Amino acid sequence: MQQRVVTSNEADLVSTAKTVLPAGTFGNTALDIVIARGKGGHVWDASGNEYIDFLIGSGPMLVGHAHPEVTAAVQEQVANGTTFFVNNPHGIKLAAEIVDAMACAEQVRFVCTGTEADLYAMRVARAYRGRDKILKFEGGYHGMSDYGLMSLAPKRLANFPEAVPDSAGIPKSVRDEVVIAPYNDLDAVRSLVAQHKDELAGIIVEPFQRLIGPKDGFLEGLREICDETGIVLIFDEVVTGFRWAYGGGQEFYGVTPDICTLGKIIGGGFPLAAIAGRADIMKHFDKAAVPEDRALVQIGTLSGNPVASAAGLATMAILKRPGAYEQLWKTGNTLKDGLTRILKDARLPAQVIGEAPMFDAVFTDAPVHDYRGYFKGDQAMARRFNGVMLSQGILKSEGKCYVSLAHDDADVAKTIAAWELAAKGLRDGTA
Ligand SMILES: Cc1ncc(COP(=O)(O)O)c(C=O)c1O
Repeated sequence: MQQRVVTSNEADLVSTAKTVLPAGTFGNTALDIVIARGKGGHVWDASGNEYIDFLIGSGPMLVGHAHPEVTAAVQEQVANGTTFFVNNPHGIKLAAEIVDAMACAEQVRFVCTGTEADLYAMRVARAYRGRDKILKFEGGYHGMSDYGLMSLAPKRLANFPEAVPDSAGIPKSVRDEVVIAPYNDLDAVRSLVAQHKDELAGIIVEPFQRLIGPKDGFLEGLREICDETGIVLIFDEVVTGFRWAYGGGQEFYGVTPDICTLGKIIGGGFPLAAIAGRADIMKHFDKAAVPEDRALVQIGTLSGNPVASAAGLATMAILKRPGAYEQLWKTGNTLKDGLTRILKDARLPAQVIGEAPMFDAVFTDAPVHDYRGYFKGDQAMARRFNGVMLSQGILKSEGKCYVSLAHDDADVAKTIAAWELAAKGLRDGTA
């Protein structure tokens, strides 16, 4: 990218943001950049500077920004009304598509965010089992609820299974309801389940935790433990759903949970998420189907919103076409291999972790199989590396590159050139 030019309009927006928004942001990406437009794999800031976008809205825009088919579907629905609070055709068709796609899904309940989906998935597991505790993995991201924020990214590494809240404002009592385990450590899970098995309602797990893949047999082992004990296995597929494969992580890894949560891609860039799973568990959302004291009350003004559902369906129609996932994995693997080679050639204490659709560099050469391994990565080095990437017009989050179907060969070539520069900067101490 040429030297970034900032217009007075963008400077004014940044200054207003710093006044009217805590920390000057919506709470997401902490940059003094205002993104005004996106098309395909690129976005433009309010001053007109262009970026190759590996944030893709934190994951939803897998087919690229403003895809003409998604835009057309949205425009058609917008002209016909935007919300009704009664079933709508797109929402029903989207639920049917999710039931077809996800092995665990017999029924679907829509909400607006992944946070809500995870919150209700844990709640429905409790209602179904009639027990209170949830086992969650250290470093696992399940949204911003009181439960999700237990040991999400703890600075203090406690002894397992002690839960450490990542936020102020969470009642102390919630800690006692969450059992924390190390990801990828089946022996630890077995032993914690044995200790708490009469209190545990569910195990919630990202089948692919942040950038860390499951060790061989880990997900299968969780399935076995849940089968033996009757504990509900919840896959958080907010990231992996429709990304790892059309049928999500459960298709990719060949392990079927009891329920899963979905978000990001299924709303096509609009607020929509879902809990999907076995009918005998999902029936707890139906107060006519279970005793009153086992039923969930769950209502949402915008749940199953027709515009979001239309965007999700149009996105999924594109993903369903032959070759879509091959292309996504090919682009991602070219990028990932390029970055791996660059880090190796630069002899930096670093490695690339993740899979083709979502990966990044971690600045440690020790193996990374869980949050504690990831925590050892040199964050300051990562920030310097990302700083060079941004200066070269590459937009990404602090810890992830999300690849889309819209990233083309020219984007790949430019990104690899920027990584070369960033690695050189780290090696020479100029970054
Ligand atoms: C695995 C996972 N679960 C849940 C969430 C929360 O989703 P949302 O940001 O829509 O609340 C996220 C968000 O990134 C996520 O990555």
